[in-house]
Amino acid sequence: MAGRTVIVSGAGGGIGTATVEKLLAEGGRVVASDLPGLGLSQIESLGDQVVAIEADVTSSADWERVRDTALDKFGAINGLINNAGVEGSMTPIFEYPEDVFDQVQAVNVKGVFLGLKTIVPAMTGEHRSVVNVASVAGLGGASNLSAYVASKHAVIGLTKTAAIEFAPLGVRCNAVCPAPIRTRMMDSLIDGMKSDELDSAAIEALIAASIPLGRIGDADEVAALMTFLLSDAASFISGAAIPVDGAMKAR
Ligand SMILES: NC(=O)c1ccc[n+]([C@@H]2O[C@H](COP(=O)([O-])OP(=O)(O)OC[C@H]3O[C@@H](n4cnc5c(N)ncnc54)[C@H](O)[C@@H]3O)[C@@H](O)[C@H]2O)c1
Repeated sequence: MAGRTVIVSGAGGGIGTATVEKLLAEGGRVVASDLPGLGLSQIESLGDQVVAIEADVTSSADWERVRDTALDKFGAINGLINNAGVEGSMTPIFEYPEDVFDQVQAVNVKGVFLGLKTIVPAMTGEHRSVVNVASVAGLGGASNLSAYVASKHAVIGLTKTAAIEFAPLGVRCNAVCPAPIRTRMMDSLIDGMKSDELDSAAIEALIAASIPLGRIGDADEVAALMTFLLSDAASFISGAAIPVDGAMKAR
């Protein structure tokens, strides 16, 4: 990653922050964007090779500011990680609130689309690569998560289309599909699954048991795959949706 500039959305969250740290450790420069909050302000302390910027992925004007900031501060853009996402509600389809459904699509699908549309034309150099964060929820259904599952399937569709459209430009585009990873989002999903019979610990145990490697993943393990996909070691990989899931989807 030495000398390369990568934009990371949702950078203040669990997977986002782990990814920023990994990119910096590999010698990269990072433009870290997120909604205002503690996560984003903590990114500021990671050194002078990272710039933190408040931006909403559903706003094309905000994406333009992110692009201009990257070019002003570092003079180039080599990589983009579309990581921002929301889980929505854990509710059956019949009761799923329409406004929440729309919000999940706005962040998880339109946010990725605007990132591709705004950032990729400004990328320069030989090492241009995009990673979109999908999920195992992009590879199959999951009860009570209709909006999230639909959005992550859409991310994989966008990834494949972008890979084909961007190939003549020499830009690669891939998706990563994490299983449950220990972050705020997973805690929120566990909260949504709690009942009189099941507390958080019991739900965690059930999730771990659904993963052949027998545990929930760490944000670092997703960051490692994304960094590999941005690197030249992945120079012939494009249009792929790669699980990082302890074999969850091998079943
Ligand atoms: N944690 C998991 O189990 C898991 C599994 C598979 C995929 N994912 C995906 O990984 C990505 C990162 O999630 P995470 O687990 O780190 O959760 P997280 O909640 O810690 O991070 C998500 C980040 O996205 C940001 N965000 C939300 N809406 C935004 C908007 N409109 N504009 C800009 N930023 C916005 C949040 O502020 C937050 O910092 C998401 O796309 C998520 O769907 C997570």
